[in-house]
Amino acid sequence: MSKIMVVGASGTIGRAVADLLGQTHQVIRVGNRQGDYTVDLSLKASIENVFKKIGSIDATICAAGLSRFGKLGEASDDDFLFSINNKLMGQVNLVRIAQQHVSPNGSITVTTGLLAREPWPGTVPTAMVNAALEGFVRAAALDAPSGIRINAVSPILVTETATKMGMDTAGTMSAVETAKAYQSCLTGDMTGQVLDVRAFGKVD
Ligand SMILES: NC(=O)c1ccc[n+]([C@@H]2O[C@H](COP(=O)([O-])OP(=O)(O)OC[C@H]3O[C@@H](n4cnc5c(N)ncnc54)[C@H](OP(=O)(O)O)[C@@H]3O)[C@@H](O)[C@H]2O)c1
Repeated sequence: MSKIMVVGASGTIGRAVADLLGQTHQVIRVGNRQGDYTVDLSLKASIENVFKKIGSIDATICAAGLSRFGKLGEASDDDFLFSINNKLMGQVNLVRIAQQHVSPNGSITVTTGLLAREPWPGTVPTAMVNAALEGFVRAAALDAPSGIRINAVSPILVTETATKMGMDTAGTMSAVETAKAYQSCLTGDMTGQVLDVRAFGKVD
């Protein structure tokens, strides 16, 4: 049994990931306001602090990272900076700190999103940070120490999220199906990859 830290474990995707992996591993649930431990991804010191508290682990999975939508002509400086500080630098810093704490041959997984490669109109800040994060993962994996693997999962619109937002659920994927890609990051031998969830789970 491995010791796995799941950041965002109270969220739509993170809860499904923590529940799935919790069947066979020791899962430490981390959130912003709730969980076994709390962290604020937008603050590097907060990430350092939570790793110090938890100690050594075999894997870190992040299914958190806030970002904003916005049209090219309408997204504000704050929309860009917020998305950079949270979804991008939050997860970049998580990887930078996690690689000092994850055991040899362990695994680090972050979350990007379909919009990096298949953007919708009005999604500029989110599409931008997703694409940047994917570039980071490909390069960071080349430098990772002690056989540590670094990958990203790219979810499509999650069914539960679409329902919450009153959107059409056709072509979405449930959180439980989405979680399968995170499990593959843990059990597989890939590194520097961006896993498209559609290759691992069933689309509604
Ligand atoms: N849902 C989708 O359709 C979808 C599609 C593509 C990509 N994604 C990406 O998948 C990731 C998770 O999305 P989700 O919809 O599952 O999120 P969600 O349901 O909104 O849950 C967010 C999770 O992140 C935690 N969190 C919020 N702010 C945080 C902070 N500053 N520091 C650390 N943790 C924080 C929350 O903790 P608390 O509950 O304790 O506040 C919660 O556990 C995001 O990066 C999102 O962009 C989602």
